[in-house]
Amino acid sequence: MRLWLDTDPGVDDALALGLIRARPEFELVGLSTVFGNASVAQTTQNALRLLQLLRCSDIPVHIGAAQPLRGSARYAPEVHGGDGVGGIAAQLPLSPAAPQTLPAAEALVAASLRYPRELHLVAVGPFTNVAQALRLDPGLAERVASCTLMGAAFGSHGFTGNVTPCAEANAHNDPCAADEVFAARWTRLQVVPLDATQRVCIPLERLMPLRDRGPVGQLLWQAIQPYAGYYATRDGHAALVAHDATAVAALLMPEVFSWRQGPIRAVEGGLAHGMTVQDWQGLAPNDPAWVGRPAHAVALDAQPEPLMNLCLQAW
Ligand code: BDR
Ligand code: CA
Repeated sequence: MRLWLDTDPGVDDALALGLIRARPEFELVGLSTVFGNASVAQTTQNALRLLQLLRCSDIPVHIGAAQPLRGSARYAPEVHGGDGVGGIAAQLPLSPAAPQTLPAAEALVAASLRYPRELHLVAVGPFTNVAQALRLDPGLAERVASCTLMGAAFGSHGFTGNVTPCAEANAHNDPCAADEVFAARWTRLQVVPLDATQRVCIPLERLMPLRDRGPVGQLLWQAIQPYAGYYATRDGHAALVAHDATAVAALLMPEVFSWRQGPIRAVEGGLAHGMTVQDWQGLAPNDPAWVGRPAHAVALDAQPEPLMNLCLQAW
């Protein structure tokens, strides 16, 4: 499976990259960076160094959006540390590679033209680059084999948001982009929201073997600590919530998720900024807000055990 990863590394983004590298099913053909967990300058440096750590610095890295389509960027130092990777950025190996000169959106369109109907796009940061690529070339949506997004929240198991009571971070960071991505006619769009990713909370004890797996495992273990600490304060138990790796896993084991079809919208502005809604009942067929919006698959639930095992085997 040829993969393009759009990402804002990001502790859980780093682990998603680790999963991609470990699985023979995937061939990562390109990576684009976006603001989100940290500035795009920082997430780009993190991506380059993580690729070097994982011995694949030949994968081209394209710099994407520094801010959302509207409004200004906000970062998440309280979750991912000031450097976006839990304080380990300076310890990651320097990459001999530099970012490519072609900007992310253009590079994504070019990759879709190079691999028509073969490229699987996985976006695990704010969806700004994907929306910009669609603005450049709306044909992208039908040209890629699939698009998988980590983001949004639909309220299953009480998961309605993680940055506000009604918004998940990637959707909240750029709801305008999210809404444009949801409006596109993808060959297949699958959204993996908090409803599914919050089910994959890997207890720290199960991650301890990482410490014995050489420099890569030790650095990942170190990066996880503040991230797990944040969730421990929030949830009362120290665990790795594997948001982005769960989205990657949806390409490998879609059968362990429960999917619901329907058009999706993202709200911009006000109290509900970044909130996502799916009209799965077809309640608003004549409402101009919903007319012509294509149906997409949303993962409302996920089986934790097979997903945790997949991650633990990869890392
Ligand atoms: C998403 O937001 C980011 O902080 C994580 O990397 C993940 O992509 C979870 O809401
Ligand atoms: Ca992310």
